[in-house]
Amino acid sequence: MPGHGRPEGARTRLIRVDPERIDEGALGEAAEAIRRGGLVAFPTETVYGLGADATNPRALAGIFEAKGRPRDNPLIVHVPGEEWLPGVASAVPPAARRLIDRFWPGPLTLVLRAARLPAEVTAGLPTVAVRCPAHPVALRLIELSGVPIAAPSANASGRPSPTSAEHVIEDLWGLVDVIVDSGETLYGLESTIIDVTRDPPALLRPGAVPVEDLEDALGSRVVVGDAARGLADSEVALSPGMKYRHYAPRKPLVLVESDDYSGEGYLEGVASVARSLAAEGRRVIVMASDEHVGFYRAAGLEALALGPRSNPFAVARRLFAALRSLDGSPADAAVVEGFEERGLGLAIMNRLRKASGRAVVRVRGPRSRLYRAPAPRPRAAAGHDAPRGRDARGPGARGHRDGGPEPSGAMEAGGAGGWGGSARSR
Ligand code: TXA
Ligand code: MG
Repeated sequence: MPGHGRPEGARTRLIRVDPERIDEGALGEAAEAIRRGGLVAFPTETVYGLGADATNPRALAGIFEAKGRPRDNPLIVHVPGEEWLPGVASAVPPAARRLIDRFWPGPLTLVLRAARLPAEVTAGLPTVAVRCPAHPVALRLIELSGVPIAAPSANASGRPSPTSAEHVIEDLWGLVDVIVDSGETLYGLESTIIDVTRDPPALLRPGAVPVEDLEDALGSRVVVGDAARGLADSEVALSPGMKYRHYAPRKPLVLVESDDYSGEGYLEGVASVARSLAAEGRRVIVMASDEHVGFYRAAGLEALALGPRSNPFAVARRLFAALRSLDGSPADAAVVEGFEERGLGLAIMNRLRKASGRAVVRVRGPRSRLYRAPAPRPRAAAGHDAPRGRDARGPGARGHRDGGPEPSGAMEAGGAGGWGGSARSR
């Protein structure tokens, strides 16, 4: 489209809708496209979604085609209120009721027993993921369409989710019928997904509602498995979406984790990982919390600020845009700081582990400062190896200095030879 350096896409119309003064005529055109079986990208409070009529199998097939999404990855059905639940779900257990009362409309998706829905929505599972978004444009679009709208995030499969219409244009221009532009999204992270068909309920994807808030509303524990933390692929039956590469920039990304993100040992560890990548001839950028960018720049490294560590909401909000910006930057590779897995930090770490293809280096925290490696490394500058799968098990790959980085088991699990794992998959 003009101004975006793209060819005129005959198929795609861009419609701007101000969320505070909704132009019903303009949004009505988008609703009409949904009713006719078309594809409409629209804003929600989390990320942009790519919507189609959830009752129309042909329309749903178009979603998978436009995104390049594997067909066995089920979709979230969006409804404008709980009154629509009977058409979508066959049962609403008490735990779901409590969560709906507290969090709907909002960024919480419930996995429920499914009513009769096209197999394209559920991927043949007996369950369905349902969400009632809090964005006024999304709500009005569903109402005007008169049908529930199935919508995954409006990115090409494998890419970071879109937090602005520009991101949608980048990925889907010419492949969808309408893009509704209502500016940047509020949370910048997808909804939290909880499976309430189990007891106790299980977190399938951490997101904009922290798990601590879910437990508070339920008055009981929520199971958080390794897959929800981004540490492992899930069983297919658990949340099939989790087994695909996600959120990935096209360039290699290394995540540096620790038990202590404030100590100098951590900052030195991150800088040391960045230098070792630079020593391989790569132009490296460090993606860091606001509090730390000064340290890296003073150390002669390029650094990009992700927002204050003291405000995870701000970090979450710009995370996907930052991952996308890496692709347009002159850097060849990035090293990204980790965050504590509390509150929104759990979702941030899930996305970063996936975005890095689990190329993770661990910097030891203060508790392990007494750690001594069995044998010193022969090579002078090598506090660690660049995180390649092949070296991760060798004795030379172990951290050897206080606060020194150490490739983790998680990186090995990333497989596909570290860097290779960051390739875009659709
Ligand atoms: O914030 C959001 O949730 C956004 C906006 C557009 O609503 N949507 C979104 O959709 O992130 P998507 O498709 O990118 O992620 C949905 C995830 C996928 O990982 C999928 O596998 C999982 O939900 N999912 C869908 N139905 C499921 C089910 N019945 N059981 C388990 N997981 C399910
Ligand atoms: Mg997605």
